[in-house]
This record gives sequence, C-alpha cells and structure tokens, in this order.
Amino acid sequence: MASQELIKRLEQTIENIPDFPIPGIQFKDISPIFLDPKLYEDVITELAAFSKGKIDAVCGIESRGYLFGIAIAVALEVPFILIRKAGKLPPPVASEKYDLEYGSAIIETREGQIKKGQRILIHDDLLATGGTTEAAAKLVEKQGATVSQFSFLIGLKKLEGHEKLKKFNAEIYNILE
Ligand code: PRP
Ligand code: MG
Repeated sequence: MASQELIKRLEQTIENIPDFPIPGIQFKDISPIFLDPKLYEDVITELAAFSKGKIDAVCGIESRGYLFGIAIAVALEVPFILIRKAGKLPPPVASEKYDLEYGSAIIETREGQIKKGQRILIHDDLLATGGTTEAAAKLVEKQGATVSQFSFLIGLKKLEGHEKLKKFNAEIYNILE
C-alpha cells in the first residue's frame, strides 16, 4: 500500500482536464510527474516493491505504459518487453485484436521476446475500461507465459476494468483510484 503522503503528492501533481479528448471525458495528465524527479523515483520504488521477487519480466503497453514500465524492470533487473500498437514492430509479431467503443484496435509484440513459463507483470499508466490491458494479457498468455501481476499508476474504480481482469487470477495494484 502506498503511503498517504505519496498518494497526496500524486493527487496534487496529476492534472484533471475536463472534456478532453472528447466532451464528457476527464483526462488525467500525468506529465507533471516527470517534472519532479524525486516524485518519479518514489513512484518507481512503490511499483517495483509490489513486483519484487514475483515476476520474470515486465510487459509495458504503448505508449504511457513505457514511462514507468521500463524503470520498474530496471529496478528489478528483469527484461522489459514492448507491447505496441499495430504496424510499429517488424515481423515476426504476435498480435491481439480488441474492441474499442467505436471500431477495434490491434496490439503486437515481437515474437520470441516473451518466453514460455515466464511470470509476467503487465504495466500501464491507467486502467479505465480494461480493454487494452485485457488484450495485452491475452497476448501474453498466447505466448505460453503467465500473467502474474498487473500494475497501474491509476486504476479507475468506477469503470469495469478491474472486473475484466479478474479471470486472469493475477494480483492487481494501482497507487491511485
Ligand atoms: C490510454 C491509457 C491506457 C488506456 C486505458 O492509452 O494510457 O493505455 O488508454 O484505457 P482502457 O482501460 O479503456 O483500455 P491511449 O490508448 O490513450 O494511448 P497512449 O498511452 O499512447 O497515450
Ligand atoms: Mg496507453
């Protein structure tokens, strides 16, 4: 559990922008965290502590999932694997299609980078509907690895994201709700 002090510092730093990118959506701008190296370091320490000794690799989801994911992997001295939006990685790739509110999207990873039997942490900055993370978890399982943990900076409780991830039987941690 993150300290109340860390939660408070984050709440004071993350900016809530109403009606962006579309009316009715409140955008959480995490970019001010990177203006404060000590706060960033404390977030990484917190997220790394959750996963210490429990995972063999970190998978981060493009693009904001890279901002903390790589640092978590370095802190724990485990590999970091990029999960990217379609068409960015050279072949061979493994892919997973998922539904968006309107239409669909595809995420991909380089084939062979996730090893069979590995215990994987899937990390992203934000859990909202859970669609992106669920697709990432399916992609990881297709490679014969196990999704052991999910971590997020923010896990929005009022959306159905947490519900969607239950079927993977993995630990879930988010610093903020
Ligand atoms: C945002 C956020 C998560 C995802 C959460 O990414 O960074 O990855 O949406 O939404 P969901 O739980 O409803 O799937 P976005 O696709 O906006 O791209 P970005 O990370 O490249 O900014
Ligand atoms: Mg994202």
